[in-house]
Amino acid sequence: MSNTCFDPNHDDAPNAAGDQLADPFRRRLLSAAVLGVSGSALAAAGIPLPALAASSGRAAGALQAFASLPAASDDAVRVANGFRAELLYAWGDPISDGPMARADAGDDAAAQLQQAGMHHDGMHFFPFLEQGKPSSSHGLLCINHEYTDDGLLHSDGMANWSADKVAKSKAAHGVSIIEVKRDRNGWQVVRPSRWARRISADTPCRLSGPARAHPAMLTSTDRWGEFALGTFNNCAMGFTPWGTYLTCEENFNGYFKGPPTPSADQKRYGISEKTAGYRWHEFDERFDLNRHPNEANRFGWVVEIDPWNPQAAPVKRTALGRFKHEGATVTLAKDGRVVVYMGDDERFEYIYKFVSRQRFQPGSADNGKLLDDGILYVAQFGDDGEGRWLPLRHGEKYPNGALTAEHGFGNQGDVVIRCRQAADLAGATKMDRPEWIAVHPHNGEVYVTLTNNSQRGNAGQPGPNAANPRPENVFGHIVRWRETGHDAAAHSFAWDIFALAGDPQHTDANKRGTVKGDAYGSPDGLWFDPSSRLWIQTDVSTSALNQGDYARLGNNQMLVADVGSGETRRFLSGPHGCELTGITATPDGRTLFVNIQHPGETASERSDPARPTAVSAWPANQFPNATGGRPRSATLVITRPDGKPVAG
Ligand code: FEO
Ligand code: CA
Ligand code: CA
Repeated sequence: MSNTCFDPNHDDAPNAAGDQLADPFRRRLLSAAVLGVSGSALAAAGIPLPALAASSGRAAGALQAFASLPAASDDAVRVANGFRAELLYAWGDPISDGPMARADAGDDAAAQLQQAGMHHDGMHFFPFLEQGKPSSSHGLLCINHEYTDDGLLHSDGMANWSADKVAKSKAAHGVSIIEVKRDRNGWQVVRPSRWARRISADTPCRLSGPARAHPAMLTSTDRWGEFALGTFNNCAMGFTPWGTYLTCEENFNGYFKGPPTPSADQKRYGISEKTAGYRWHEFDERFDLNRHPNEANRFGWVVEIDPWNPQAAPVKRTALGRFKHEGATVTLAKDGRVVVYMGDDERFEYIYKFVSRQRFQPGSADNGKLLDDGILYVAQFGDDGEGRWLPLRHGEKYPNGALTAEHGFGNQGDVVIRCRQAADLAGATKMDRPEWIAVHPHNGEVYVTLTNNSQRGNAGQPGPNAANPRPENVFGHIVRWRETGHDAAAHSFAWDIFALAGDPQHTDANKRGTVKGDAYGSPDGLWFDPSSRLWIQTDVSTSALNQGDYARLGNNQMLVADVGSGETRRFLSGPHGCELTGITATPDGRTLFVNIQHPGETASERSDPARPTAVSAWPANQFPNATGGRPRSATLVITRPDGKPVAG
């Protein structure tokens, strides 16, 4: 390692300040100050800045000159002509100097804990500083591992279910932090690496914010409500201007066995006696809510991780609310307060934003506390194209009732733990499954994917509204809004629909959509590159891919859109049974990292261990450096052989 690289282990111990994480970006800026770098590093890190967000135009972001990739349905990754895809990091690859995965999935839990987890999802590249500037050839990649297919994870699948299998399943969840470097042979995972780390479903995490020490957070193993074991179902992500990673807990209910008669609060989060499909409760009693009723309250949070300190405990930031978090997209208000946009991915759930009380100040030791204190809002989309942010603040009065003890909210801890119920009372707009949120880097507009909602308008279900206009919305859409005064902390916004996804050849006019260019459905991952191009990743469920409504749209894919003109082109197509999710780039835009999740997934979402490659043999069928035996989620490196930017 060069002496000019950032080396946070030479700095103060980050855990000394209790809940406050280290401020690695502070240290980086201190290093950078010596080396002549200032706030420009923030823009390079991908955080939209207030000065940039003040412009009002929607131009920029014109598409590069590449020919659209045709829709494909083969078992391979295809990219547009002129670009190259290589394999970097697949399920079972060692994070450092641990063992390589066995093709027969015979690795035990201890080995899995030193290897890439399953089902790669949200991801971010944190560059080292080299010669005073963020490097585009050396960094840390933080990668979520959302969930497991236990039919593939164990040699004999879920037969002979055991404590060892539960331990391996928990080890395959969580987050990878790996060191990656580009040399003359291309990008490699650095092995061994002092930075390499796996966070799993058993890693101790601190609790902070209003729910810390709340009575509903106490358990027999944590009588003060200060520590939770692990994080799981880590879906999308965010990153902060102070250099930390945010990983988001989504469908946590699926890990808990509920009581025969669940409470109203448990029902509101989807907990029942039959939802514990991962079967962890059979060998780890903390997942049995009959024995530990509060354990499920310790999940459904945004978790902050300092990638630069492998010893720092992740911190669950409860001020950001408890729900099925998709992602946590960070930007700054005009006055420097931190704003976090978040979706709750379930049918008829809501869009939230958090605004910190204090301002981000580059170099301040207090940045690590910003996500503990602020106001959480939920979105209400009016039929007139105007919207309001409704504060979920203890004591706030709404026409249907106040967020007070009378309605079960005795304090702000109650509000954040029962966030969905608070949003119900406030009168938030029920959306069609909010997934990723992206902020335009030049004008501050915010885009959200509403992936689909086939139940919209069904008997007994909410009907269409202006922001979710289609009954039986099988293709999904993308909504965007502009905050009043171009200020992310505003209390109101103006919104419109960027695109209704669909198949323009569909016999049902309701399903043709409005996309200008290549057709797609079920948009999910969403990311702006520094040139304001919008990258869209799709997640059509395996039971719907290449049939019925989706018969003509091919495998899951990634497209690029010019948000000014709306022109959209297909850039990448994935292998059988996968979804595309997770995207980040080096500061120079010459390397794009993209995740392929769950190749080979069956319609039931659990594979037959006797036929692990029945649906897909990817990546081993395309990349000779891949371990075979099973389909494997993986991180790809996308570059241009001519060396020009892919996403710059
Ligand atoms: Fe994990 Fe909503 O996707
Ligand atoms: Ca998703
Ligand atoms: Ca999805």
